[in-house]
Amino acid sequence: MTDAIVVEGLVKRFGATTALDGVDLTVAEGTVLGLLGPNGAGKTTVVRILTTLLQPDAGRVQVAGVDVLRDPDAVRSSIGLTGQYAAVDEYLTGTENLEMVGRLYRLGKREARERARELLERFDLTAAADRPAKTYSGGMRRRLDIAASLIARPRIVFLDEPTTGLDPRSRLAMWEFIADLATGGTTVLLTTQYLEEADRLADRMVVIDRGRVIARGTADELKAQVGGQRLELTLASAGDLVPAAERLRPLGTDEPHLDDSTRRLSLPVSGGMDVIAEAVRRLDGTGVEVLDLALRRPDLDDVFLTLTGHAAEEEPAGTEGDRTPAATGGAPR
Ligand SMILES: Nc1ncnc2c1ncn2[C@@H]1O[C@H](COP(=O)(O)OP(=O)(O)OP(=O)(O)O)[C@@H](O)[C@H]1O
Ligand SMILES: [Mg+2]
Repeated sequence: MTDAIVVEGLVKRFGATTALDGVDLTVAEGTVLGLLGPNGAGKTTVVRILTTLLQPDAGRVQVAGVDVLRDPDAVRSSIGLTGQYAAVDEYLTGTENLEMVGRLYRLGKREARERARELLERFDLTAAADRPAKTYSGGMRRRLDIAASLIARPRIVFLDEPTTGLDPRSRLAMWEFIADLATGGTTVLLTTQYLEEADRLADRMVVIDRGRVIARGTADELKAQVGGQRLELTLASAGDLVPAAERLRPLGTDEPHLDDSTRRLSLPVSGGMDVIAEAVRRLDGTGVEVLDLALRRPDLDDVFLTLTGHAAEEEPAGTEGDRTPAATGGAPR
């Protein structure tokens, strides 16, 4: 399989800020790469460089076999780009916006019109096709913006947070659409804050933080990196977390993790359902009231939390109530 995108040693500085500090990645033709990372990690900067909107300070970038610095025009003709912020013309209608972009990509008038109609239909915008975009909701603009990036049927598509701001129904529709693109052989690089989105759509993922790649692989590989299953309990009272942790600690393969704000206790364990029975026995008669108890496998949220020290859709670490039991003095996992 050839690589549609090759990035080596990418560096980008903005004054004193090093936004990218040596990023390497490849995307095989016809696959979907999920580029993940917390706010400010450098995702949009990668996308802007790959789409010729920004020049790197160092590194090699090839898109569709073409060096981005050497021949940006050739790169532009083989890609579609959707920015993080919708870039539609407020005063043009949905149809006019798409036709205009089609013309920019040198489609004939008829073809641009036909393609606009098709995409408006696909993105559920037919009813709003003849209204100026300024009357569109945020989600409608987002969909129009993505439709615009697909006008010329690009072989490689960049989607920077394609579903941010969409309601659940539109998000599902967008997921279906992106999956269809991939099935049709289009190479997709998508950035997202939603790990479920990456899990569903991406063949492989690259996680960046502070401009560096901190992990890469398939969803399964990343999950395996975080470890095995955990026993998770939600208690009625946060005050019971420490006593419950003391009772359950012998069942664990590692230290328990407590979260005051969610009243949740999480304990790495091995073994099957018998762990649950044993946990219930151990808490019996202690007065600890358990609202929920389950055995969980790691999901991508756990991967993200472990790798970056904070959840994908939260503020940076240090602001939430996470801690290990004081008695253990253990470092956060
Ligand atoms: N034009 C610019 N001028 C100065 N600093 C910039 C510029 N663009 C990006 N940065 C900085 O580079 C870093 C990476 O920004 P970038 O927008 O690529 O992050 P991101 O991963 O897309 O974040 P988000 O999830 O919030 O979209 C940040 O520290 C940001 O402040
Ligand atoms: Mg961004």
